[in-house]
Amino acid sequence: MMILPVFLSVALSQAFANAASSSAQTSNITASSCVDPSGYTSCFNKANDVALNCFSGAGTDETVQQSCGCELYLDEIQCALESCWNQVYSCEYQELASTFLINCPSTPIPSFPAPDDAPNRCSCNLGYVIQNATGSFNAPCSTEATLDVDRTFACTCCMESSAWTSIFEICPDTDPTLIGYNRINNELAYFNEPFDQCGQYLESYNCVNDLSFTPIGDIPFLSSFPATTGTATLSNIGGSVTTPPLGATYTWTANGVPRTITAADAKKTGASKGSSTTKGSGAAATSGSTTTGSGSTSSSSSGASGSAQSSLGSHALVIGVSLLGLAFL
Ligand SMILES: *[C@@H]1O[C@H](CO)[C@@H](O)[C@H](O)[C@H]1NC(C)=O
Ligand SMILES: *[C@@H]1O[C@H](CO)[C@@H](O)[C@H](O)[C@H]1NC(C)=O
Repeated sequence: MMILPVFLSVALSQAFANAASSSAQTSNITASSCVDPSGYTSCFNKANDVALNCFSGAGTDETVQQSCGCELYLDEIQCALESCWNQVYSCEYQELASTFLINCPSTPIPSFPAPDDAPNRCSCNLGYVIQNATGSFNAPCSTEATLDVDRTFACTCCMESSAWTSIFEICPDTDPTLIGYNRINNELAYFNEPFDQCGQYLESYNCVNDLSFTPIGDIPFLSSFPATTGTATLSNIGGSVTTPPLGATYTWTANGVPRTITAADAKKTGASKGSSTTKGSGAAATSGSTTTGSGSTSSSSSGASGSAQSSLGSHALVIGVSLLGLAFL
């Protein structure tokens, strides 16, 4: 039995509401990779202190816990934009922004998604994957007044196809479990219409032309699971960010609240780093106002998280926030 598309949005918002209460995972950016390591550390620690206070005031109220967690993400994003602007295209920053996007009220995040040819970018454009995957659930046909049975099935199949195409085809070399496979699998289980039974509908209907789904670049929608899937881990590639991508100061608005970013001065801190590798192979010392990157370096994001500052994680457990492990990535 399937759930009619008119109920899609209800099921989806419940799924995200459940996930949101678990939103206390912190950034995996390592301070030592930043243009201003000490500035990043003090900013990060302050953000965590604020969040701990917020969580202890929240008690067991999940709505308040969620807003504490979302504020923490925004503060960590702010720390990175100010003191770690050389890492904003990296897997670590893009993961942080993705996690925010998935778990919190939608607001545009600066430097996300990374531009296609950005220096020191993640090997998979996580922003493209996550935005296309989440966009799949806004199935345009789900709100149609006249529901023909075939079209109804096709609409759900296109939603599933759009989500799976985002996970498997935007970064075909990347291990799909690193970019949201499990989360999408859980979300789609709500709809009780197995994708492997969608073939006939996806052959009869063109999701974009017939059912008004948003195209995923020029990638065709999958009509079945791919025979093979990627195995690559995430890594940072393509050189160094040598000047603040948003300029010296920048103001953005998150959930109606303006935030001003003042980029740390790489020259003053004398610590411009080319990549997030913790092995030091990509760092370039500054001798002027710009750095000369030493070419592409890579580091797996899980490796870089080894010394990540995750103080809130343990504190949050102590104060009873339920970490259900539902972060998107
Ligand atoms: C940090 O890394 C861990 C382990 O890879 C991952 O589970 C977590 O989701 C990451 N945090 C963010 C905010 O991406
Ligand atoms: C969806 O993915 C395509 C292909 O990578 C990309 O060009 C497009 O910008 C993405 N859309 C969004 C909203 O991120």
